[in-house]
This record gives sequence, structure tokens and C-alpha cells, in this order.
Amino acid sequence: MSTLFRTGGSSAAKAAASAQSRGQPGPFARLRDSLNRWLGRMPPAVATLVLVGMIVVGAVAFHILYGWLFWKVPGLDFLLISALVAATVATPIILLAQRLIRSLRGTKNQLRMMTRELAIALHKAEDVNHARMQQFANMSHELRTPMNAILGFSEILRNQRFGPMGNARYLEYAGDINDSAQHLLELINNLLDLAKIEAGRFDTHDAAPIEIHHAVEMAARMVRPLAERQGVTLKVTTAEQELHIHVVERMLRQILINLLSNAVKFTPHGGTVGVTAQLTEDGKVRIAVRDSGIGMSPEEIRIAFQPFGQIDSMLSRKHAGTGLGLPLTKAMVELNQGELALRSRPGEGTEVILAFPACDAEGVFLRKISGRGEGPPQ
Ligand SMILES: Nc1ncnc2c1ncn2[C@@H]1O[C@H](COP(=O)(O)OP(=O)(O)OP(=O)(O)O)[C@@H](O)[C@H]1O
Ligand SMILES: [Mg+2]
Repeated sequence: MSTLFRTGGSSAAKAAASAQSRGQPGPFARLRDSLNRWLGRMPPAVATLVLVGMIVVGAVAFHILYGWLFWKVPGLDFLLISALVAATVATPIILLAQRLIRSLRGTKNQLRMMTRELAIALHKAEDVNHARMQQFANMSHELRTPMNAILGFSEILRNQRFGPMGNARYLEYAGDINDSAQHLLELINNLLDLAKIEAGRFDTHDAAPIEIHHAVEMAARMVRPLAERQGVTLKVTTAEQELHIHVVERMLRQILINLLSNAVKFTPHGGTVGVTAQLTEDGKVRIAVRDSGIGMSPEEIRIAFQPFGQIDSMLSRKHAGTGLGLPLTKAMVELNQGELALRSRPGEGTEVILAFPACDAEGVFLRKISGRGEGPPQ
């Protein structure tokens, strides 16, 4: 019942409401609130009777006042008819309003229950997700330990550390075991990283200002042996001045190695791979990795960004890979407040452009080339 009186449209009600909004409720609002409370405590039928009674008394009082003002004393018949008319008009309106209030209250309760159920379901889903992550992390740990043993021992066999092997085939197999173990370890690490990012459990607390030339040079050094083996020229061009970006160093290294190794892997013998880093007008460090390789069509680009999305070309098949490099790179770039764009054309090559907000050596962000900003985003 009480809600029936909460929607007041009259100017008196508005005045009372504005008094309320100023801090203290006006006399009209106080009267309305106590009437609401009083009616709210009654059973609906009694409240209806009281309301109809109040309207009837009001109508009769109005007619008496009218007669007194204009010297026309109303007869008892007239007053009775007025009371009857008021009761007849008011009763269905009040009953309808009560029904509306009841159904609104039902909807409100339903909504409240649904919200509670949703909150419980969300909580459960988070718990399940957390448990899965935990299981996955444990499993990865369990897998990594024997994998490291396989890697270590196959390395010893491959290098014939304790004397030559009798048969050349054993040497070849030891090499294969080592390569496969390396591939599996990489797969486990990538899967774990991707799962952690998707579950929002990969934090960037370790982010710090990183000098970009140094990072690019280091990544290029790692990829150079592969480029040389494949007869691909790897060129690094960076601006003269020192450029910094606020990122997690380990992630930046992985991002650059993933992009550079893709560029080298998917470029045939005699091709070129170039990496550039420069400061843009809008205060960003732009890193571009360009290759003259096999390229991709728009549909292939879409596949490449999906986990395990490898394009089945002759050159792709020649190289081992998990198909997690690009989605992981994109996720890591975005986690570090960066953006990634990829342009490619089949047969012409591919260009991946990264853009990160530039900062100085202390981590203060540059807004524009000339301007300086506040500090790293929290
Ligand atoms: N520079 C590129 N040129 C042509 N194709 C590319 C290039 N980079 C990626 N691709 C295609 O996109 C696919 C997905 O790339 P991604 O880096 O995710 O996986 P991968 O290199 O096959 O394996 P991983 O990086 O996990 O070892 C590749 O298999 C390849 O087909
Ligand atoms: Mg890759």
C-alpha cells in the first residue's frame, strides 16, 4: 500500500519533494510518509475501506464548505448522493492501484531473486575458473619437470658428452627427442600464459620503463641464427634517441621474439625482414615488423589470431609451431596498454605494427612529442 502515495504530481507534493531534496522533509512530505506507514501496516481490504472513507469525508466536507462560501446550504440528500458518487468512483480506482502495486512488488521480488541467483552463479563460475586455473598450473608444473629432464638428457646425447654413439641413427633420434620436447615445453608455457591472461590472472605489476632499442636488439639477436639458417636478411632500424615504454620486460621480449620469428619463418630464402622503432607525433612508440614473405589473405589473418590457428601453406607446414604465438602476442600487447595491427597480402609480405604509450626513463608518459604527462596508468 505504501508505494501508492509515493508518486505525487501536485505542486504541493513537488514543493515538499524539493524541501526534502534540500535536506529536511517538508510538513506535507512528513504527513504523507506517516500516512503511508499507517496504511502500510493495515491489511489491504481495511486500507481500501479507510481510503474510500477518507475520500467520501473529503467530498462531503468540500460540499459543505462550498455551500457555506456561497450561502447555499446543501441538503442531506445532496450530501448522501455526493458521498455515494465519491465512493463509487474512488473504490475501483483504489482497487486497481492496489493490484498494480501488488504486481509491481511481485516483479521487484522476482528481480531481486534473479539478481541474487545471478550473483551466486557468477561466484560459482569464478570459483570453477579459479579451480581450473589452479589445476592447470599444477598440471603444467608436473609436465614441465619431466620435460626438462627429457630436454637435458637428450641434449647430452645429442652432444655426445660422454663419448661417441655407436650408430648415427641414435644421434639423429636424440636430436628429434630434444626438438619435440622443446616444442611441447613451448606449448605448455604458451597455453599457461594464454589461460592466465584469459582468466585475468596475469598482472602487469612488474611493468617498468624499458628502453626499446635494447629490447629490439636482444630479440633480433635471438632470431638471427634462424634467419641465417633460412637465408633471410634481418635488418634493425631504430631512431637515434632513447625511447622507453612502460611494460613488463619479459612480455615485451616474448612479443618481439614471436613477431620476429614469425616474420623469418614465413619468409622464403633470399627475402628480408625489417624491424623499426620510432616515436610518433601523438607520443607513442611505434614498432613495425615487416617481412617480404608469403603473406596472408584477410580470412587467413582471422584464422591466425585464433588459438591454434595455423594456416596450412607449404612454408607453414615446414615449420613447427603451436599456433599460439599471435593470439598470445596480441593479448600481451593489450595487457601492457598497447595496440597491435596487422597488414598482409598473399605473396607480398606482412607488416605487424605495435603502438605503446611512450614514457621517459622514470616512467613519466609523454603526451605529445613536446609535452609530458603525469605517470603510468594504475
Ligand atoms: N609473418 C607472417 N607471414 C605469413 N604468415 C604468418 C605470419 N605470421 C603468422 N602467420 C600465420 O599465422 C599462423 C599463426 O601464427 P602463430 O605465431 O600464432 O603460430 P605459429 O608461428 O605457427 O606457432 P608458434 O608461434 O606458436 O610457434 C602461422 O602458422 C602462419 O600460418
Ligand atoms: Mg609464431
